[in-house]
Amino acid sequence: MAGHDELELSPGIVPLLLDHARSATRHAYVPYSSFPVGAAILVEDGRIISGVNIENASYGLTVCGERVAVFNAAAMGYREIRAVAVSAPKSAFTSPCGACRQVLNEFKPSRGEMIVILDGGITSEPRLMTLSGLLPHAFGPHDLG
Ligand code: THU
Repeated sequence: MAGHDELELSPGIVPLLLDHARSATRHAYVPYSSFPVGAAILVEDGRIISGVNIENASYGLTVCGERVAVFNAAAMGYREIRAVAVSAPKSAFTSPCGACRQVLNEFKPSRGEMIVILDGGITSEPRLMTLSGLLPHAFGPHDLG
């Protein structure tokens, strides 16, 4: 759980991010897994940018919703992710895969923790955690000197 870090997010932002992640799943391209995932990222100026998983007939080229959201944000010029919400209608508390954790780590905010919000669906409250909790001892931009 994020504990005090949760307080860094303004009130109302968690449900808002979840709404964006859930609505994004409508555009997931999942002909092979039928497992849509939506992600919504809160960037430094308060904007919310979404992504969905995009699969490929060459299965290994599939890209997760979280990474598509990060790349959308980065391509728009953003470099700091304050929070990310992940929603998968078929599975409560779907959590970013290892590859996505590493890609998220690249854009950790300069102040405070990156908050990761896992959608519990309509019956459960979302779970909040930090990226550092999900990816301890990460290799990141600062390690390159
Ligand atoms: N997937 C995501 O988009 N994000 C996750 O956090 C877990 C997995 C996608 C990849 C693939 O399109 C489908 O879910 C099944 O693995």
